[in-house]
Amino acid sequence: MKELDGQVALVTGGSRGIGLAIAEELGRAGAKVAVVARNEEGATAAAAALEGDGHKGYGCDVSDSNDANEAVERVEEDLGPIEILVNNAGIARDNIFIRMTEDEWDDVLAVNLKGAYNMTRALARGMMKRRRGVVLNISSVVGVVGNAGQANYAASKAGLIGFTKSLAKELAPRGIRCNVIAPGFITTDMTAELPESAVEELHSRIPLGRFGDPGDVGGLARFLAGPGARYITGQVVAVDGGMAI
Ligand code: NAI
Repeated sequence: MKELDGQVALVTGGSRGIGLAIAEELGRAGAKVAVVARNEEGATAAAAALEGDGHKGYGCDVSDSNDANEAVERVEEDLGPIEILVNNAGIARDNIFIRMTEDEWDDVLAVNLKGAYNMTRALARGMMKRRRGVVLNISSVVGVVGNAGQANYAASKAGLIGFTKSLAKELAPRGIRCNVIAPGFITTDMTAELPESAVEELHSRIPLGRFGDPGDVGGLARFLAGPGARYITGQVVAVDGGMAI
């Protein structure tokens, strides 16, 4: 018997990077995982490679509320009621503020913050009726401390924290827990383009002296989704090698 046996989990942006590592851990813990990503083929391939049975991939742009509603409907028809939602899909469009275009602002807010709203809204009613559920929102250390050149991204990630704390208060009486994971620098496609000099400088600012692996975030998500975290809600848990201390 594994801790998430038989539960259905939906992970947005689950086709690669941190989302994939979370999908892998939830699959290992016994959950049936719906991998959601913009590209249906990528999502399907990722789902097929997960440990255990019953996983499935879905194409969906989380910034589009119709797409989000439709994806949730399809997942629940195929796999059953969703008990764990992980809002992980995210993008960055970095620029110094004075040069940041309205499109760069809007695109990042639309995926990172509105996307989490769209997916959570599509699911919350069902979770409330069943009086159980877990929502995990993937923010960033940048949402807590800010970052020059990322005003749009930091605003979206800070927004997720306020969103999650409010939801945690509203939904706790219905048995639903909502928490935030705030990763520091994690080695994925998103950080692959950093120049070597920037990587060295960043390592020197991280007490544990290195970037994290996607699996470091996956392990935390598995814990927060599971019974060991039954008395934890409304929290922001950093997985950042001590960067934000
Ligand atoms: P990634 O770029 O490797 O993967 C992003 C995933 O999101 C992909 O699966 C992509 O298909 C999906 N996605 C993007 N836009 C989407 C949309 N409109 N609809 C549906 N899916 C969409 O990114 P990574 O590094 O794995 O990041 C995952 C999350 O973790 C993001 O929210 C990111 O902001 C956050 N994060 C990442 C950190 C890092 O150092 N890599 C640090 C802190 C937070």
